[in-house]
Amino acid sequence: ERGEYDHFMLKEIHEQPESLARSILPYIDQATQTIEAGDTASQIFADADRAVAIACGTAYYAAHTAKYWFEQIAKLAVETDIASEFRYRKPVLPVTGPALFVSQSGETADTLAALRYCRENKSPAIAVVNVPESSIAREAKAIVPTHAGPEIGVASTKAFTAQLAVLAVLALSAAKARGHLKTGDEAKYVKSLLSLPRKVSEALEAQPEIKAIAQTLTKAKDVLFLGRGRYFPLALEGALKLKEVSYIHAEGYAAGELKHGPIALIEQDLPIVVVAPYDDLFEKTLSNVEEVRARGGRIILISDDKGIKLAGNRADHVIRLPDADEIAMPILAAIPLQLLAYFVAVAKGTDVDQPRNLAKSVTVE
Ligand code: F6R
Repeated sequence: ERGEYDHFMLKEIHEQPESLARSILPYIDQATQTIEAGDTASQIFADADRAVAIACGTAYYAAHTAKYWFEQIAKLAVETDIASEFRYRKPVLPVTGPALFVSQSGETADTLAALRYCRENKSPAIAVVNVPESSIAREAKAIVPTHAGPEIGVASTKAFTAQLAVLAVLALSAAKARGHLKTGDEAKYVKSLLSLPRKVSEALEAQPEIKAIAQTLTKAKDVLFLGRGRYFPLALEGALKLKEVSYIHAEGYAAGELKHGPIALIEQDLPIVVVAPYDDLFEKTLSNVEEVRARGGRIILISDDKGIKLAGNRADHVIRLPDADEIAMPILAAIPLQLLAYFVAVAKGTDVDQPRNLAKSVTVE
């Protein structure tokens, strides 16, 4: 039931402190402050030469974000692909590594077909799924469930952040199994994961500001989303969410790609959402912000205190996130993107929970 909320989407956005706690706690031993993703998955990661990660839509953006964690923390090369491409291109699979599948429903036709391809080619399939009795869960060698609970809104929100959290757990357990996680670091990451529910609640407190910013987007014909590094997939997800529920044309780009084409789109008042919490790439993203501002673009900056301070008056609007590390921050960054899409859609009067032409579960290709 929707309870006090106008839509399931808003209810599910606000459920994220609980859905994240449910999704993280099964993988944490609180007494020893250690991460436990299961023996099968750990063993597969220990021996892996590389991995592939396959999904569709929002679940694909979760996999794409995880690629940065796997490479940087677990030193494991991960190739990501959308299932509809992967299944037909006869991909060369890792010699010893796993194929990761990410799916809320566990019934997405293309993802299931990609999984079957990997099985036939003897690649162990690890499935991150929200429905444990689904086809993808049944056919995988190991399942690492998310516990987001049933998601009713067609646009994925709480399932996405649960996927990110469980993929973070997997990346950290891979790092451990591969000997790249120091004891002190494991406790530090455990603390970061456990802080997520509280920090998501803090991020949700920006709702009134986000709602006000959303009112300035309702007449936009196009909106761009930019991000670098681990925030690039978040920019893609922000754009997908906005177009799905508000029907405004939106595109996400890697900030560094701007000069290679998309900058031609910038004109007076074009809204550009920049997903850029402070990190070692922040200054680079900031120079992209300057480039689009010089051409009249209107900047909506999603960042933390440090980033907002450094950006100064270069941002026309800011959305503040709590401080967090490289694991928690991409998960927190999803929150304002979801709220922004939601409030633009509400202001435009679209059918938020059942956007036109979309189905919750895509069981035909
Ligand atoms: C977007 C959305 C879709 C799904 C995609 C995969 O908001 O919900 O892009 O993420 O159809 O679905 P699952 O995760 O069920 O495989």
